[in-house]
Amino acid sequence: MSNIISTIDFNSTTTCNQSNPTHQTHPHNPMDTTTAGKPSNGHRLVFLPLPYQGHVSPMLQLANILHSKGFSITILHTLFNSPNPTNYPHFTFLPIPGTGDELHSLIDLKNILRLLNYINADLVDPIRVCLNRLMLEEDGVACLITDVHWFGTQSVADDLILPRIVHRTSNISSFRSFVAPVLLRDKGSVRGCDEEVKSEASVSRLEPLKDKDLPKFLPNDPEGKYKILELTVKGIKQARALIWNTFKELEEHELEALSQDFPNPHFLIGPFHKFFPASSSSLLTQDQESLSWLDKHPPNSVLYVSFGSLVRVEESQFLEIAWGLANSKQPFLWVVRPGSVEGSEWLECLPDGFLERIVEGRGYIVKWAPQQDVLAHPATGGFWTHSGWNSTLESICEGVPMICSPSFGDQLLNARYVSDVWKIGVKLENGFERGEIQSAIKKVMADEEGLEFRNKIVNIKGKVNFCLKKGGSSYSSLEDLVNYILSF
Ligand code: UDX
Repeated sequence: MSNIISTIDFNSTTTCNQSNPTHQTHPHNPMDTTTAGKPSNGHRLVFLPLPYQGHVSPMLQLANILHSKGFSITILHTLFNSPNPTNYPHFTFLPIPGTGDELHSLIDLKNILRLLNYINADLVDPIRVCLNRLMLEEDGVACLITDVHWFGTQSVADDLILPRIVHRTSNISSFRSFVAPVLLRDKGSVRGCDEEVKSEASVSRLEPLKDKDLPKFLPNDPEGKYKILELTVKGIKQARALIWNTFKELEEHELEALSQDFPNPHFLIGPFHKFFPASSSSLLTQDQESLSWLDKHPPNSVLYVSFGSLVRVEESQFLEIAWGLANSKQPFLWVVRPGSVEGSEWLECLPDGFLERIVEGRGYIVKWAPQQDVLAHPATGGFWTHSGWNSTLESICEGVPMICSPSFGDQLLNARYVSDVWKIGVKLENGFERGEIQSAIKKVMADEEGLEFRNKIVNIKGKVNFCLKKGGSSYSSLEDLVNYILSF
């Protein structure tokens, strides 16, 4: 039984090595028991993730889940921010040529429109060549599964007569707001994405969202954003189905509403990361010392602070965060990603003596943490987060109440749902302000209200455990997805 890691040399004329076709079981995989409708080994799925941490992680988790169902997996990926193949010896990796330097120069979020235009125009032909080649191999390709943002690949799939399914890495609630500008304009509303609205008013048809929650980025190019959104919506409607990293019990009503505009089949099979123990899809090195540091603290006493892989803050905001943490008197584990503070490499802008007086003893600062393990640690009592969907879902799965500081895109919606709908945390409504931060930390970590958040989130955590078991909603939806792919 060979266990070949095959990062394919695109220019090589030899046939690429196929990953180990043997179905690999995992001791913690709750889905391993199924055999009904299982594909014959070698049935291949090709995945195409967007090269950001928050998109690569769930896509690789999804690939792992479908691999556990007997499919063989090829990951088509960009050279920049490429996943580490050694963590996935059971997959085949195929880099898209010419996706290093150009992509690197566009990866900053302020270039997101240019990046999306680039990958959906310039990269379409290289992707067509890759897919064509894979289809000619003995295994063929059963289905292409792309991030929704690769809308340009729909025409390639159509030309090659290859079924395409899309994966949206956020949840359904925030997706409704993400596509709202296009859907509202289609329905004759003048409200577009070109208005930077700060109003508290509810958005009609999208309650409980407030105007100020609607995604806003790139105010400098509203029509460019609208065009991209329009193409994304079109690409999703043309896809065979959507796969969601969420679960029915959390978003049943939102799914009903969404299905009116997107009648494609929807498969809610999350939370992906719970299918396996904490996985190694991290693109950065995780500081494992964080866990030994947590070991020294009593249950529910530590506030974990992390703003994900993309958010950047101004120096003044960073100082408010630091003083908010200092004044709270609460122990904290704080992830400060290098480069995440404008104008600083790492911690240089902290006031003199801050590290010695405040951090030592009560705090621990790292560059990147093993987040899933940190959230599962008994000492972790709260999570101050940017409300990225992966972070939010990971917190829900471990029953850790949240303080939300959303920055852009789906984060605003996730935060609104955490505070106003699921009521499992608070949202900092005025950005980073040390007084508000201090009282939010007290509320979540020490007050009666924090206990209520904890009870509610622990209750949802129970539903997660149930939905993954045989007969549960995600378990059944995964069965349906496998059978659906086999029906192509
Ligand atoms: C991006 C967007 O910002 C987010 O809004 C969207 O929902 C997904 O894409 P990101 O900012 O990275 O993602 O946030 P998030 O979705 O929360 O994903 C972060 C991932 O990195 C999580 O899986 C988390 O476990 C991991 N992480 C984070 C670590 O492993 N260590 C850390 O220190 C911080």
